[in-house]
Amino acid sequence: MGAVVVEKVAPGLGWPWDSYADPAIGWPDVSRETMSADPRRASPFMRGNGPRRARYDVDEVPPLPSLEQDLDDVSRETSPAHLPAPPTTRIFVVANQKGGVGKTTSAVNLATALALGGLSVLVIDLDPQGNASTALGVDHSVGTPGSYEVVIGGDQLADHLVGSSEAPGLAVLPATIDLAGAEIELVSMVARENRLLRALNAYLAGHHTDYVFIDCPPSLGLLTLNALVAANEILIPIQCEYYALEGVSQLVRTINLVKGELNNRLRLTTVLLTMYDGRTRLAAQVAEEVRTHFAAETLPTVIPRSVRISEAPSYGQSVLTYHPDSAGAASSLHAAEEIARRGTRRAD
Ligand SMILES: Nc1ncnc2c1ncn2[C@@H]1O[C@H](COP(=O)(O)OP(=O)(O)OP(=O)(O)O)[C@@H](O)[C@H]1O
Ligand SMILES: [Mg+2]
Repeated sequence: MGAVVVEKVAPGLGWPWDSYADPAIGWPDVSRETMSADPRRASPFMRGNGPRRARYDVDEVPPLPSLEQDLDDVSRETSPAHLPAPPTTRIFVVANQKGGVGKTTSAVNLATALALGGLSVLVIDLDPQGNASTALGVDHSVGTPGSYEVVIGGDQLADHLVGSSEAPGLAVLPATIDLAGAEIELVSMVARENRLLRALNAYLAGHHTDYVFIDCPPSLGLLTLNALVAANEILIPIQCEYYALEGVSQLVRTINLVKGELNNRLRLTTVLLTMYDGRTRLAAQVAEEVRTHFAAETLPTVIPRSVRISEAPSYGQSVLTYHPDSAGAASSLHAAEEIARRGTRRAD
């Protein structure tokens, strides 16, 4: 018996005009369900009664299990726990001269997570792109006073801080495009690498602050140098992609130079693996390589590649308030919790 035309289907979806079925053979027995009806065969994220709904968004990779065994004390909740305050203000510079590795995203989400955990947190946007200001819902249009006025004009930091609606206790020093000229203006200034340090010290003398995050531009210019001099800890976000470690050795050389010449308080304490795609071998290889180089500094939690994380800034939000149930939010909370607990342990 010959094949029989059974129907015409739309070619726009890639189907041929005519769809044929051989009645002697019949359609293959393919379930029209996209998931197994047998709950024992379902993914762990799909189990349970009620409507079958992914625990995490379909376009997200679920957070990975911690690579360290001794973090049982780190909660797996997605709501922020009350976090321990450090004994003294911890000032982080978030640096990596490689562009687009997740500096701003890390600064914004970690700062928000710590603030939601009950701590007082300040974000200094030191990048003329003003991405951290955008992500924290703070105006940074031309003419808005911010880090340019503080670093170049010598203004008081307190005068230009803006509270972020992301969390109580979270303040932001916005950056405008004016800051683009600061690199050149700084060259001829006296004590050009100490200007942010002075402003920050004056502010911290009168305002209780648990954490400061300084978001740097993707360069090792005078703005980043000001941040390295003002900070006491460095957080390097490393994207789990090819070329990830390229440039990190240059950054470590710069850090050692700054440490020796300008700021002996500076320590590289934290490396955060970002944009981890658990489906690729490359991500796992990069993560392993980074953990070999920075065994003590690399946080157990990695930040997965997540659509929610990349969408959040366009709503002027961190991922924690934009999609609190997402894998991106959960991993940011865990990373913040690990940072907070490490700081407390170090001080013990
Ligand atoms: N975990 C993630 N999953 C998906 N997208 C991400 C993730 N982290 C960051 N991104 C996206 O990648 C891009 C670069 O991130 P981000 O701006 O944080 O990097 P950056 O190092 O601050 O960049 P720059 O060097 O330009 O300042 C952004 O579009 C951001 O939304
Ligand atoms: Mg940035």
